[in-house]
Amino acid sequence: MTIFRTGDLVIAHNNVGSILQVVDKEMDDTGRVVYKVDTKEYCYPEDLKPAPHYFNEDGTESADIKTIIVTGGAGYVGSLLVRKLLQNNYRVICIDNLRFGGASLIDICCHPQFWLENIDINDFAEVDRVVEKSNCYGIIHLAAIVGDPACKLEPEVAAKTNWDSSIHLIDKALQSNIERFIFASTCSNYGKMSGASEYVDESSPLAPVSLYAELKVKVEDYLLNKIEKKHDFSPTCLRFATVYGMSPRMRFDLTVNEFTKELALGRELLVFGEQFWRPYCHVSDFSRAMLTVLRQPKEKVAYNVFNVGDSLENYTKKMIVDELLKLMPKGRIKYIEKSEDPRDYRVNFDKIKDELGFLISKKVPEGMEEILRSIQNGVVDKPDREVFYNTPI
Ligand SMILES: NC(=O)c1ccc[n+]([C@@H]2O[C@H](COP(=O)([O-])OP(=O)(O)OC[C@H]3O[C@@H](n4cnc5c(N)ncnc54)[C@H](O)[C@@H]3O)[C@@H](O)[C@H]2O)c1
Repeated sequence: MTIFRTGDLVIAHNNVGSILQVVDKEMDDTGRVVYKVDTKEYCYPEDLKPAPHYFNEDGTESADIKTIIVTGGAGYVGSLLVRKLLQNNYRVICIDNLRFGGASLIDICCHPQFWLENIDINDFAEVDRVVEKSNCYGIIHLAAIVGDPACKLEPEVAAKTNWDSSIHLIDKALQSNIERFIFASTCSNYGKMSGASEYVDESSPLAPVSLYAELKVKVEDYLLNKIEKKHDFSPTCLRFATVYGMSPRMRFDLTVNEFTKELALGRELLVFGEQFWRPYCHVSDFSRAMLTVLRQPKEKVAYNVFNVGDSLENYTKKMIVDELLKLMPKGRIKYIEKSEDPRDYRVNFDKIKDELGFLISKKVPEGMEEILRSIQNGVVDKPDREVFYNTPI
């Protein structure tokens, strides 16, 4: 029978969804050991087992495996990231309120090195409880109201979730001596390019044109410039290109995914402003980039910002359509003129390549093929369903 000590994290047989902490050990009237846990309940040793992310399956402690908290780990980006971390022998605590359901975690929710905390990041007491108990090495912060339309629809929730809760999490990480913090930001922060042939890079001025990007810029500024700089804390902002590709939580409100889906379903595709540029990056390369950052010496990534993508993967919408027509030559397209798009930008991604050695592994046409195949063979059932969108359709 496992002997527990004060501070150990445990799961009680009558409450397998929560991690409890042993706060005291006493004898009952018959002389048996009974543990008091932080819910104020008393448990006999046989009613408790070690919490998975602290112990090996045989109950022995293992300090050599690092624990990472991933907020938003059930989402489009996060559900691939948590799998990547598990494959690379990290323990993962996922904080997510399952805004789009929990189906993306079905196959890993009982993995011995995975733990889901189904909580709201706006509930600071709950977040503090998880962070304090986790003894984690790093936090990767993805949870957010994601995208311009979703933030526009719920501006107050967006401000609370994307700003207040991010600040709280950063402060809590600092206070808890957590070593790494990766913040998921966006290339949308750049806004419009100043000249048609120019590329923006990490040193370019930021010109957010939506609440979504404004909040990202503010959090970046807080993380990189406003907090006390500690040599043992390593915060990094990753400005991701526009994402595409297959994930356990699919999104069809992203350009490449949506365009491929519409043509795959035999519909006429309406394209607004075909001349505007954007950078694109496969969702699985996002996970590879975050893992790359996690493994770098701190001095290379601390208080630093990197664009994530590849300079050759900037496309206009017309170029995206042309790639799709190679796959589906009978596709019907209708271009609708739009003379202004404040999110017209081409991005340079040399910094992450030169300084961290990060290279993408997939290009846009491969992502299109994945999506087309998954719709044609029925793997994605009814892709118009609301669960695949971040705003009501
Ligand atoms: N190109 C880009 O600029 C780009 C692209 C994709 C993602 N991102 C960033 O990556 C991150 C993840 O995006 P995604 O595409 O996976 O989005 P998503 O909407 O699929 O995932 C967000 C996750 O956060 C969770 N969440 C939302 N509010 C929460 C709350 N209050 N408490 C707990 N959990 C909450 C949701 O349940 C969801 O699982 C976001 O921060 C996003 O801004 C940037």
